[in-house]
Formats: sequence, C-alpha cells, structure tokens
Amino acid sequence: MKTKAAILWEPNTPWSVEEIELDAPKPGEVLVELHASGLCHSDEHFVTGDLAGMAADPPGIGGHEGAGVVLEVGAGVTSVQAGDHVVFSFIPACGHCPSCAAGHSNLCDLAGVTTTGMQLSDSTSRHHAANGRDLALAIGALGTFAHHTVVHEASCIAIDNTVPLNRACLFGCGVVTGWGSAVYSADVRPGDFVAVVGCGGVGMNSVQGARLAGARAIAAIDPVAFKRETAVMFGATHTFSSIDDALRALSDVTWNRGFDRVIMAMGVGNGDALGQAFRLGGKRSKIVVTNIHPMSEKSIAIPAVMLTGYEKQIIGSLFGSANPRKDIPQLLELWTQGQLELDGLVTREYPLEGINDGYADMIAGKNIRGVLKYV
Ligand SMILES: NC(=O)c1ccc[n+]([C@@H]2O[C@H](COP(=O)([O-])OP(=O)(O)OC[C@H]3O[C@@H](n4cnc5c(N)ncnc54)[C@H](O)[C@@H]3O)[C@@H](O)[C@H]2O)c1
Ligand SMILES: [Zn+2]
Ligand SMILES: [Zn+2]
Repeated sequence: MKTKAAILWEPNTPWSVEEIELDAPKPGEVLVELHASGLCHSDEHFVTGDLAGMAADPPGIGGHEGAGVVLEVGAGVTSVQAGDHVVFSFIPACGHCPSCAAGHSNLCDLAGVTTTGMQLSDSTSRHHAANGRDLALAIGALGTFAHHTVVHEASCIAIDNTVPLNRACLFGCGVVTGWGSAVYSADVRPGDFVAVVGCGGVGMNSVQGARLAGARAIAAIDPVAFKRETAVMFGATHTFSSIDDALRALSDVTWNRGFDRVIMAMGVGNGDALGQAFRLGGKRSKIVVTNIHPMSEKSIAIPAVMLTGYEKQIIGSLFGSANPRKDIPQLLELWTQGQLELDGLVTREYPLEGINDGYADMIAGKNIRGVLKYV
C-alpha cells in the first residue's frame, strides 16, 4: 500500500514528508493505521547524530511515540487483532528473554536489534521510498512519523479503545519514561526531596511521578519560564531557572540535607551539567540520568570522593526502568481515575506536514509536548 511518512535523508536536514510504499505484514508483524505521534527529543538526536549507534542510520522514518488502530496482522500474531487500539512501546517487550523474564522488559534483548532500523523478524525493510530505496525506522523499529507502519508484535501494547489516541501516544515514551524515572529508577519515597532538571515532555512526567510517590518537595529546574509555570501545575513546589540557582537555595529547600533524588531530563545531557547536578544530591542520594548525552561525549566531571563519602549513586534509566506491558495499561488507568494529567502535557498539535514546525517549537521551548495528529 501507499502511505505518507516523514523521512530524514541526511543528518542535520529537515524532515521530508513523502509518499512511501509499505509492504504487507510478514509473520509476527502488525500493520497499524497511526492516529498520532508525540515529538520526543530523541528523534532530534537522530537528526543531529547524537544517538549514532543507538538509533538506525539515515535515511530513515522517524518517530517512536505512537498510537493507532490495527488494520491487519501477519501469520502467528496472537496478542493483537484487527480493530485493536495499540500504543507502541519504543523498547519491544518479547516477554521471554532473560531481561523480560526478570521483570526488566525495558532492557528486552530485542532492543539491540531495533538499532538496525530493520524489521525485528527478518532484518529486512517493509518501508520503501518512492525511488525504491529501503528505509530504516529510526528509533525502536517503529516509524511513527507516518500515517501507517508495520512493526513487530512485541512492540504493540493493546489498550482500552475509549482512550483518545492523541493522548495515548504519549505512553509510548514520554509519560512512562518520565514517570518511571521518578517512581522506579529513582525510587522516590514518601517525604523525599526531589529535583527534576529539565521539564519537557519527559521531565514533566517525573514531576508528576514524584508527586504521586509522595515527595515532600519537588524542585523543577528549567531555563524556560513557561516550563517552570507548568511544572507547578504538575506538582512542583519550587522552581529554579538553573542548577546554580537551585544550589544557592539547597539548604532552605531541603532542610540542609540535599536532595534525596535528582532526575536529569534536559534536552541534551552534558557532563558538566551532570557534575553540577551531582552537587544537589544529599547523603545516599540517587542521581538518575534519563537524558541522552551525545555519543561523542566520553567523560563526565564529578567529584568522585563525594560518591564515596555521601554514598551517592548515579543511575542510568532507559524507558523509566518500566515494564511496558504492565505500566502502560496501569498508567492509563491512573489517568482514567484522574490521578495522572495528560492534557496539560500537549501544548500543540500538528499535521504530519507540520513536523518541522513542531521540532522548531520544541527547540524554542514553546512545547511541553508537540503531537502530530493524523486522524
Ligand atoms: N532514557 C530514556 O529512555 C529516554 C526516553 C525518552 C527521552 N529521553 C531523553 O530525555 C531527554 C528529554 O527529552 P524530552 O523529550 O523531554 O525533551 P524536551 O526538549 O521536551 O525537554 C527538555 C527540557 O530541558 C530543558 N533544558 C535545556 N537545557 C537545560 C539546562 N541546562 N538545565 C535545565 N533544563 C534544561 C529545556 O528547556 C526543556 O524544557 C532527551 O535527551 C531525550 O532524548 C530519554
Ligand atoms: Zn522518546
Ligand atoms: Zn525480551
């Protein structure tokens, strides 16, 4: 079939929305009509090359935060059927590799296979440009910047079909990543002092995760005033425009103890900022690194003696250390019960053709999350 997709042909060039040829799903695969896709910062890393090695190489179709309706399934697919509403998990969850079996499906062995951008089942492509060239799928082997895509069954999480898909898409990355960074990776406990550095589509969900986990103070640190104001609506008790400002107020905010949990969710991670944020942490604090540092960065600057002296921990977090098959439905239920805020996360919606405007708005700090809405 023919459909439309946003293709990145070369690093650091605009997305090009073009008609593509999409093959039928092969065994184990699912054809989905996408209704919406969030504009996560990670696809911008695909554009700049910061994610080289963890994402496919261009040319490729972007997008990994999508939701839609199953149109057709290939032979052997049992967990979803035509008509089901699905959210894609940007890390597939096969259910039976050692990580999945151990309850860490955010580290599913299939994640490594997604970095080729080819189909997980046979390492070939179902997506072809008008000039006949095979197209990779930039992140997670998904290709959600398109009206239709074909993905592996392991990437599909069936959801209740009453949830609006232009909100459900956020569960494919931003909501679960941010929430899980606070609730699972940082393990925020009642009474904790929490700092969130960077309050965009991911960090804002760390703020609401920390609130629901019972944090007593949540400091939202972001240079953009609109992000700080929005963070207060999501549960922040203090706001600062820089880590330096937060360091100056550290003793007041944390009763002289330092933050128990620090979550790094800036647009682009960097070692100097991490070194500075490390100073926000108190005794036995956990500093969670969710934001992506450029692949080219080889060192971080921290006073390691404080790692020992205060028993601080620096923890990496992928997809919020969550289990998509459990956490996506559960978080959707929390939203249904009014405990999780979604509408305030979506600042603007765009058609597929508006993708470059959407990313320009993200970089200009105008969006908590921009969402491409197709239907
Ligand atoms: N680990 C994972 O599984 C995972 C998943 C999704 C996204 N990410 C990464 O998380 C990061 C955040 O993604 P996003 O979609 O929320 O990005 P975003 O662009 O929506 O938000 C980033 C925020 O950081 C703020 N910021 C920039 N510089 C800052 C600084 N020096 N101090 C404090 N705040 C600063 C920006 O104003 C913005 O509000 C990105 O690096 C993204 O690639 C990681
Ligand atoms: Zn993402
Ligand atoms: Zn697995």
